[in-house]
Amino acid sequence: MEKQNKILVWDLPTRLFHWSLATCFFGAWITHEMEASGFWLHTIFGYSALALVLWRIAWGFLGSRYARFSNFLTTPRAALDYLRSAPEVEPLGHNPAGGWAIVAMLGLVAAQAISGLFNGGEILMEGPWYQAVPKWIQELAHEFHEVNFNLLLGIVGLHLGAIALHWVKRRHNLVPAMLHGYRTGKSGTEGIDSHKAWIAAALLALAVVAVWFIVSSAPPASTDPLDMF
Ligand code: HEM
Ligand code: HEM
Repeated sequence: MEKQNKILVWDLPTRLFHWSLATCFFGAWITHEMEASGFWLHTIFGYSALALVLWRIAWGFLGSRYARFSNFLTTPRAALDYLRSAPEVEPLGHNPAGGWAIVAMLGLVAAQAISGLFNGGEILMEGPWYQAVPKWIQELAHEFHEVNFNLLLGIVGLHLGAIALHWVKRRHNLVPAMLHGYRTGKSGTEGIDSHKAWIAAALLALAVVAVWFIVSSAPPASTDPLDMF
């Protein structure tokens, strides 16, 4: 049997990103029902999710080998072929179908957070741009925030289902690698040799500033209660 080695695949920033995004997603979900006094938590989770997605897009170009889009984004046909043939030998990074699921999750999380900026209606529960846009955009954002969330639930369900299926069918648990970064593979396969932590930190700072700018450049909300009607 071929010798198997432990290979560092997921850099630390990618792993931190993943568990932070999952926390923000579940956090924003749990807090959407909070009273107005706890609504700030919903917005903090939402803004953080947006900053994380912006960071991950940049990391898809500047991150380490297996985190780059070029490593796991294939044509839709290649993803379908992968699903149809379910090859015994898996890629060391994300598989072609997983690659598309990742793009979908990033896109839907970004859309959820952006629509939240224009969502509102309940007293003291509104996104920073709610009062700056016409009513039809407010209504669209409200509707979209609700429908898109159901899509998100669907794709996250698929994500967790695919991981569970891998475990059951292939006896391969993908979760530990997202925690410690290592996978087993053929000896001689190239792992990553740097976490690129400084680049990751600089990109995170840029992403946070971008979100801060989007939020803080909204015109001040009206404090006149009659403006609500
Ligand atoms: C990953 C990010 C987010 C998730 C998963 C999320 C999820 C949700 C969900 C499930 C609802 C209830 C929808 C409904 O049934 O009507 C909701 C409501 C809402 N969200 Fe978000 N949200 C996110 C980000 C944001 C952001 C960034 C903002 C704006 C700062 C925001 C503002 C709102 C507002 C104003 C409501 C309506 C509250 C109400 O009227 O009851 N959300 N969100
Ligand atoms: C407790 C729940 C979760 C578990 C156990 C989990 C597990 C995993 C695992 C094992 C991978 C690596 C898959 C592979 O080897 O190719 C992964 C990747 C990923 N997951 Fe999750 N996940 C969870 C929740 C979520 C949620 C809620 C989201 C988004 C809303 C999410 C988004 C992603 C993304 C974007 C990736 C790609 C990571 C990257 O390369 O940056 N996950 N997840």
